[in-house]
Amino acid sequence: MHIIHVTAEMAPIAKVGGLGDVVTGLARACLSRGHTVDVVLPFYECIEKRQITDLTLITTYNSFHDGDWIPTNAYRGEVSGIPVIFVEPSNQFFKGKYVYGGSYNELEAYIFFSRACLEWMQVTGVQPDIIHVHEWQTSALPLLYWDMYHQLSLKRPRITLTIHNMEHYGECRQEQLSKCGLDGAIYATTDRAVDDRTIGHNPERLSLLKGGIVYDNARSTVSPTYLKETLCSGWLSSTLIRNRDKYFGILNGIDTAIWNPATDIYLPVKFNAQKLEGKKFCKNYVQKGLGLPVESAGIVEGKDVVNGTQRKVPLVVCITRLVAQKGLHLITHAIKNVEELGGQMVVLGKAPDDRVEREFKDLADLYNEGPAIRILLMYSEELSHMLYAAADMVLVPSLYEPCGLAQMIGMRYGAVPTVRRTGGLADTVFDIDDHSNSHMANGFVFDGIDEGSLNGALDRAFSLYKNKPDEWTGLVRKAMERDNSWNNTAGNYIEVYNSVRVR
Ligand code: ADP
Ligand code: GLC
Repeated sequence: MHIIHVTAEMAPIAKVGGLGDVVTGLARACLSRGHTVDVVLPFYECIEKRQITDLTLITTYNSFHDGDWIPTNAYRGEVSGIPVIFVEPSNQFFKGKYVYGGSYNELEAYIFFSRACLEWMQVTGVQPDIIHVHEWQTSALPLLYWDMYHQLSLKRPRITLTIHNMEHYGECRQEQLSKCGLDGAIYATTDRAVDDRTIGHNPERLSLLKGGIVYDNARSTVSPTYLKETLCSGWLSSTLIRNRDKYFGILNGIDTAIWNPATDIYLPVKFNAQKLEGKKFCKNYVQKGLGLPVESAGIVEGKDVVNGTQRKVPLVVCITRLVAQKGLHLITHAIKNVEELGGQMVVLGKAPDDRVEREFKDLADLYNEGPAIRILLMYSEELSHMLYAAADMVLVPSLYEPCGLAQMIGMRYGAVPTVRRTGGLADTVFDIDDHSNSHMANGFVFDGIDEGSLNGALDRAFSLYKNKPDEWTGLVRKAMERDNSWNNTAGNYIEVYNSVRVR
């Protein structure tokens, strides 16, 4: 089968969060099962070309925007072993220092990109079995396909859509959508029930994501629990319920080629579940690097001694986009609580919002000179690998979390997760005190969004770490041995593709 992912992100060259990881990991898993896979990505100006192998211009063609045909280059290259097509329009779209937040209109740029991908397939005669689109950014593609392309020569492809986060639904005005040449009829009704075939009743507030859901052939979201949550609440729930028979909850995996403590190029010393000495080295390495007291050198004072061995100071990490979804008040509270509990904590986070950035900057000024907390306000792939490897615990206190990869990556690197029970966190982390499920137990889970609930989970984690080192090491090994790879779930995507493809 030939599958083409059309996406705004791809790890590691254009990654902001988990979407990038998922595209790369799923593409690799399908390639290794013998399918043909391409990823189509905007050629963001910020992409480092040295990370692309065999970059070649394959064609220059025109794609439509706002009454003009825009000369557009399509390049082929390989990223981390995966074939990628880069779409580079000659206008301002996708220019800037970062993946998102350039000085162009993002909505219009992604709507343009969706059409440019179809136009590329049309002019080159590429006929995949499946076009897999992701998030609102590429959700205009199914509308464009059914409105303009499937009657031309592009007859074969069927379209699947993955919703990674329903809170981002690509709100746009009809006027913006029309710039790609979409016929107005698509906004209204066709032969189906009115509600099924409209992508919003108010032309000032259309939703690209809803359009994608209505016009795709099948759709999925990134965990079984989030699927249930999206059917129960949220303004798109009725649309999803009406299209329920082709809506699937497929748990994300992690790309174990990239996330592997036994081979990770970023780690000074590698390790695995049987040989944990390397993990200790990584912890000390990070502590030294960040100017935190290093436990093994005996610098941490006043620690009690049990059986002649010095007790350790747990290192908690939280690696995240600093946005409301991630439970910002709980992250700030954890900083205080971990310090009080005698632990260390490192937050590696980037805030797209200036106010949040300032708040965390103030916290960094308050804590970063001290002995326990480091708040690093940046995006760094390299540092993230080192921190997962160094950590005893990974904290994910999200208010909602469609899937979450940080807890799975943390487990793979022997960082025991402490998470809020929501979305994919509920599907991957099982509390050690939940005796109904003890064979699965691999972390600490809390329910409330209040500080007390978080305190309870952190207290239990710290207590086990400090008082029962052998049990703790057993937990670390169990977390590391859990298979969070795509082996478990890539096959579910193949089933979905098979259920819609033209044979
Ligand atoms: P989301 O997609 O909502 O951001 P996920 O947990 O699914 O959350 O995925 C987040 C991904 O982004 C993980 O690979 C995580 O390690 C990475 N990440 C988040 N923030 C940073 C950061 N500041 N620096 C490096 N990597 C980060
Ligand atoms: C989104 C979600 C996150 C998920 C990721 C990859 O960014 O917030 O929970 O893991 O997409 O699917």
